[in-house]
Amino acid sequence: MQVSAFLGVSVSRAMHPPLALCVFWLLPLALTLEEDSPLDCVPRRSVPSHRANAHLFHEEGVFNYSTMLLREDLDLLLLGAREAVYALDLKDITKKLASVKWEVTQQQRDECRNKGKDPETECMNYIRILHQTEDNRMYVCGTNAFDPECDYMSYADGKLTLEKKAEDGKGKCPFDPFQRYASIMVENNLFSATSMNFLGSEPVLARSSPVSIRTEFKSSWLHEPTFVSMAQMPESDLSEEGDDDKVYLFFSESAVECDCYNKLVVSRVARVCKGDLGGLRTLQKKWTSFLKARIDCPVLESQLPYIIQDTYRLCDPQQHWKDCLFYAIFTPQSDTSDLSAVCAYRVSDISKVFAEGKYKTPVPVETSFVKWVMYSGDVPVPRPGACIDNEARKAGINQTLDLPDRTLQFIKDRPLMDQAIQPIGEKPVLVRRGATFTRIIVNQVQAADGEKYHVMFIGTEEGTMLKAVNYDDEMFIIEEVQLFQPPEPIKTLKFSHVTGQLYAGSDSGAAQIPLASCWRSLSCMDCVLARDPYCGWDKADGKCVVLSDVKG
Ligand SMILES: *[C@@H]1O[C@H](CO)[C@@H](O)[C@H](O)[C@H]1NC(C)=O
Ligand SMILES: *[C@@H]1O[C@H](CO)[C@@H](O)[C@H](O)[C@H]1NC(C)=O
Repeated sequence: MQVSAFLGVSVSRAMHPPLALCVFWLLPLALTLEEDSPLDCVPRRSVPSHRANAHLFHEEGVFNYSTMLLREDLDLLLLGAREAVYALDLKDITKKLASVKWEVTQQQRDECRNKGKDPETECMNYIRILHQTEDNRMYVCGTNAFDPECDYMSYADGKLTLEKKAEDGKGKCPFDPFQRYASIMVENNLFSATSMNFLGSEPVLARSSPVSIRTEFKSSWLHEPTFVSMAQMPESDLSEEGDDDKVYLFFSESAVECDCYNKLVVSRVARVCKGDLGGLRTLQKKWTSFLKARIDCPVLESQLPYIIQDTYRLCDPQQHWKDCLFYAIFTPQSDTSDLSAVCAYRVSDISKVFAEGKYKTPVPVETSFVKWVMYSGDVPVPRPGACIDNEARKAGINQTLDLPDRTLQFIKDRPLMDQAIQPIGEKPVLVRRGATFTRIIVNQVQAADGEKYHVMFIGTEEGTMLKAVNYDDEMFIIEEVQLFQPPEPIKTLKFSHVTGQLYAGSDSGAAQIPLASCWRSLSCMDCVLARDPYCGWDKADGKCVVLSDVKG
């Protein structure tokens, strides 16, 4: 047939012959139906909870399902709640395969209450950390009545077992269940960002390993931070400079560099080198590679910077790490606005600021006032904050313990970069009015036109999940699904490549839904106007189908 030639697009007609026809014929029409105000951007489809077809999990009397670990090797979703961990069937989370309780003792609860905490809420054990270890067990930590503790857990013969190792959880897991934190397991080393003490006044980014390393207690390093997320980047891969892998941390904090009377919160990205061993005298057992920069998501209407709330690392396995992106969601600093935004960043842009950018330095201006300005003096060699690379090794510096004092002292006083990180296109990919965004996942899909699209799944304060995609610089909200009814915030969001399912957790339960529900479109027109890159109209069967299910 000459159809595809007539439409002027080349599609692989061998793969989906009936599809191509319908999809491309109608796309221009769909474009003309755009909404007027992009901020109010109404989803093309709103799906109420009773029609969401979600698999839901909830156990009577158990709350706060806010920690998840996918074990695709075991076909399990591990779900951490208050005083319990569940092993659910990854394909259908309504099937509980095992569970284990981890409750605080009466004595622990009494002690917690005596320290002034609420016995019904704060003095319980909230599971906060769930990671896989290299020997295929799991590492679990809980707040444990304001006395965090960690343990190993295994799953065998249909049973979840805690080993009762009672490891100290300080610096790994928060004391306070209401405080945000972040963690990641890299080669059996736990990287954690949390507060180290009961009062919550000693924030750290730490690595728990044979040689444990953490940040300095200095306001120029971390200043009343709210930790958001962590991700690792395999920057040693094919590195000509002999660079090390990095761990990135996203957070917000009070700006030390602000020339203002009122407290100003800014968003940050920090990073450390995986193999950092600390300094020999200066920065002993502290990061020698902790660098941070402001990360901006400029929303036009706003005077105050937006605050980062969650991030998602999107890497195409066929591409170099430099092409990875971070998608991040931001919300306003003041209550006067109900906008939320998504910005996307190139990892290469972030790593360049750390590798080549200028530093900020404090200069005293009056007796008790310090101003942070760009540092324009000489920078010591090796470059402060850099990982040990071939050039350092050539100079006889094989590990961070060999770094000269000048380099260490420099970074101890100046961990902040001068330049801020800007998003791709220097603007958000999505700004929307309404339910505040809480969590984000991004999935790359190849649509019927052969193009790859980044589809964003965004959880909100009101228990909904938005599905949005950017077509030619224009944001289109495919649908908004009510996952939790009554509405409550989505607190965790995961995606499995194996099952193609999304998993969301909230205070009352967990929900599972597929990436696409093409069957909701009953006609070819509706299927195409939905503009869901996962879907296409199968002319032979007269159905709107998920593209990977199409038999050509
Ligand atoms: C746990 O869930 C309860 C019930 O929804 C909620 O009121 C409470 O704020 C939650 N606690 C934490 C620490 O999130
Ligand atoms: C660094 O490693 C090289 C080669 O392994 C060795 O010759 C050199 O002595 C080491 N330098 C230090 C300071 O340990």
